Amino acid sequence: MTFKALKGAMVAALLATTALPVSAKEFRVAVGDGAGGTQEALGLAFVEALEAKTGGAHTAKLFLNGQLGDEQDTVSAAATGTLDFSILAINNITPFSPSVGTLTLPYVILSLEDAENITQGEIGQQMVDKTVEDAGVRIIGWAYSGFRVLTNSKHPVTTVADLQDLVVRVPKNEIMIETYKSWGINPTPMAWGETFAALQQKVVDGQDNPYMTVYAMKFDEVQKYVTNIRYIFSIEPLIVSESLFQSLSAEEQQQVLDAGHEATLASGAFLRAEEAKIKSELAARGMEISDPADGEQEFIDLATAKVWPKFYDTIGGKEVLNGVLTALGRPTVE
Ligand code: MLT
Repeated sequence: MTFKALKGAMVAALLATTALPVSAKEFRVAVGDGAGGTQEALGLAFVEALEAKTGGAHTAKLFLNGQLGDEQDTVSAAATGTLDFSILAINNITPFSPSVGTLTLPYVILSLEDAENITQGEIGQQMVDKTVEDAGVRIIGWAYSGFRVLTNSKHPVTTVADLQDLVVRVPKNEIMIETYKSWGINPTPMAWGETFAALQQKVVDGQDNPYMTVYAMKFDEVQKYVTNIRYIFSIEPLIVSESLFQSLSAEEQQQVLDAGHEATLASGAFLRAEEAKIKSELAARGMEISDPADGEQEFIDLATAKVWPKFYDTIGGKEVLNGVLTALGRPTVE
């Protein structure tokens, strides 16, 4: 190579180097669950879309298994700007932004389609705005994780009577606590990060979470019996610190929102493709699965009659629930 050619190559190399984005940044994403579940799937799809949309200027790294803090703590961390993103169950956002509690009222969201319809529509956008206002975090994506089934280590449960001798862990979420009370037991509110150990040490007998989460957290190692209750369809938002979001340019904000939307669509596809396989895998590992007796009617009647009215004020009024029911084509409450 002549000197001139070498100089040309060096200038080209230098230009290529300086053309790399100087502000390239790796964001940190807290993920409450372990590998293999819907939270990780949403996170991976988000990282891929973010890199593609920003031409590699921005990327993100997932920290699984609550490495960056318990789910509820990550909301405060993101609000104060010490954490960039978090993926967590909606029930762990409710204490900071009560209006999203409408999505954790028992037997409101009755299918994946209901969950997609509400979160991706006008009501979902209102909840995003309210959460920014109340909690200082912005929901930019939604993972769909399936119904929270009940698991326990003692015996099969098919009726409300079967529940009565069980100590059941619930998140620190008033709606879920009241739901178990409506079924006649006092549940044990406990942070997510403590749950596996508590089940293992038999401090509690059971808990509820979707099949995808039971699998990602290896709960089959410490739980034997599953009951297919359908009181909450688990929705798990991807949140970004609002102060981080506001520090981005308009173009970057749009890239983050678009990446979140792509990840949301991927999440629905992931659940549709994987849930039945995961359920069979858990059965193959020895979990015994039962359906509630009488189409779950006893559970439904108690929870809707006793729990819904208690939370009208908290969620922003009965009309908020009626807005969701109307959007789902269901009868409203008087
Ligand atoms: C909980 O039970 O606290 C959550 O559903 C855990 C999760 O994020 O999977």
